[in-house]
Amino acid sequence: MSFFEARPDLEVRYVVDEESLKWQEVMKMDLESVLKGVHPPSDVQERVTFSPHNFFEEQPIKDTDVYFLRWVLHDWSDAYAVNILRALVPALRKESRVVINDAYLPEFGAISLYQQRFLRATDLTMKQIQNARERDRKDWEVLLREADELFHLIEIKCPAGSALAIIILGWK
Ligand SMILES: C[S@@+](CC[C@H](N)C(=O)[O-])C[C@H]1O[C@@H](n2cnc3c(N)ncnc32)[C@H](O)[C@@H]1O
Repeated sequence: MSFFEARPDLEVRYVVDEESLKWQEVMKMDLESVLKGVHPPSDVQERVTFSPHNFFEEQPIKDTDVYFLRWVLHDWSDAYAVNILRALVPALRKESRVVINDAYLPEFGAISLYQQRFLRATDLTMKQIQNARERDRKDWEVLLREADELFHLIEIKCPAGSALAIIILGWK
């Protein structure tokens, strides 16, 4: 949101533009109690709609190009995270993408010890407070297979400077 406030000169109707993907409509879903407190700045009111949804229930918006889960899986244990992903399945078609923007544990040595320490500490914190975890590539693959055998991992990107990775899933 603050991105649009900071750049009022931009004439965009989408939140993400990656490799010429133009998203015309964005719907933000969260629990009704949370959305009640959301007062979007006027400059984004026309670009983004808000809809209450419990992500453990079947995704009601079908055939969308991209379902974007930002920072919602890392604080749930596998049993719950699997159910969040499964609830998307009835809405998916083979061209759909599920994009997970979340914590990712890279191979040892792939990032600095300082970054590694932060992620591993977060992993422990998630375990302590939520019985959850941060996940490495194998963990994500196991989670997907458990959620639905038609999910497949297309790509994991770790943008420089970002605390969260971009994990792109296909289905079928
Ligand atoms: C760590 S926050 C991330 C919020 C936001 N996606 C972001 O990236 O800043 C987790 C979000 O999951 C939402 N959430 C928790 N349980 C939910 C549920 N059952 N259905 C839908 N959203 C839920 C919370 O309200 C919260 O907004």
